[in-house]
Amino acid sequence: MSDPVKDMGAKTETIARTLLVAFLVSLVCSSLVASAAVLLKPRQVANALLDMRRNILAVAGLLDPEGDVNELYESIESHVVDFETGAYVEDIDPGTFDPLEAAKDPERSVAVPAGIDVARVGRRAKQALVYLVRQDGEVSRIILPVSGYGLWSTMYGFLALEADGNTVADITFYAHGETPGLGDFIVKPAWRALWRDKRLFDESGDLKIEVIKGRVLAHDPLADYHVDGVSGATLTGNGVTKMMQYWLGDHGYGPYLRNLQRGESP
Ligand SMILES: Cc1cc2nc3c(=O)[nH]c(=O)nc-3n(C[C@H](O)[C@H](O)[C@H](O)COP(=O)(O)O)c2cc1C
Repeated sequence: MSDPVKDMGAKTETIARTLLVAFLVSLVCSSLVASAAVLLKPRQVANALLDMRRNILAVAGLLDPEGDVNELYESIESHVVDFETGAYVEDIDPGTFDPLEAAKDPERSVAVPAGIDVARVGRRAKQALVYLVRQDGEVSRIILPVSGYGLWSTMYGFLALEADGNTVADITFYAHGETPGLGDFIVKPAWRALWRDKRLFDESGDLKIEVIKGRVLAHDPLADYHVDGVSGATLTGNGVTKMMQYWLGDHGYGPYLRNLQRGESP
């Protein structure tokens, strides 16, 4: 006959052992995951930087699939711009300035007033980081970081302008969380190509660029400022329009673009 007290003792021991093994296994696994995260962090940061540079080179028209991204990137000139005055800031090193980090620091950022925060930016750094491409000493492209909310996510990209500060050369998005097959049309080369030679501001200086619902028709009087939307993904397209409205407006790059158009801040 079995002894119930002994049986109970054996059961308790088995449970304790099981729990100990489970604890040790989870401790080992979590240590492995934590070490991998720490060890891989520098590589992730380097890859993110490389991807950003690849995107900047792409809109700069300088991306060569055969070339080394970091070497090609040496030809890009970066500048810190004060949003309020639109002038270059000489005492901040563009090589280390991170506008997304600065946006989290209350000292180095400002809240976007709710009434104009159509792109749901929330806060932005007081300064921007812009990129220039020069040909024979003259600015040939100006590259502006832009961001704004689509349907599900904040979309981060670069808008490249011709030297006039008004004609679009290219646009690219390097991070977004829109739906594959719907909102991700923003990264498709065919849609990107529709932006080429579009204009931002009309003769009166009013911002007119817009991703419309449907196709731009030949007789559309605003065809120069309108970009095709994608059926079934209008909300992402609206997000792109709103990001343009904020970043190209007076609280965004407006003062800088006006300086450029006047031939200042070259
Ligand atoms: C699962 C799911 C994912 C969707 N993803 C997107 C998206 O990424 N971008 C977008 O604009 N609309 C997306 N939509 C559709 C929107 O809810 C909305 O219907 C659409 O943007 C309206 O565009 P339309 O007027 O051209 O139909 C999604 C819908 C569903 C059900």
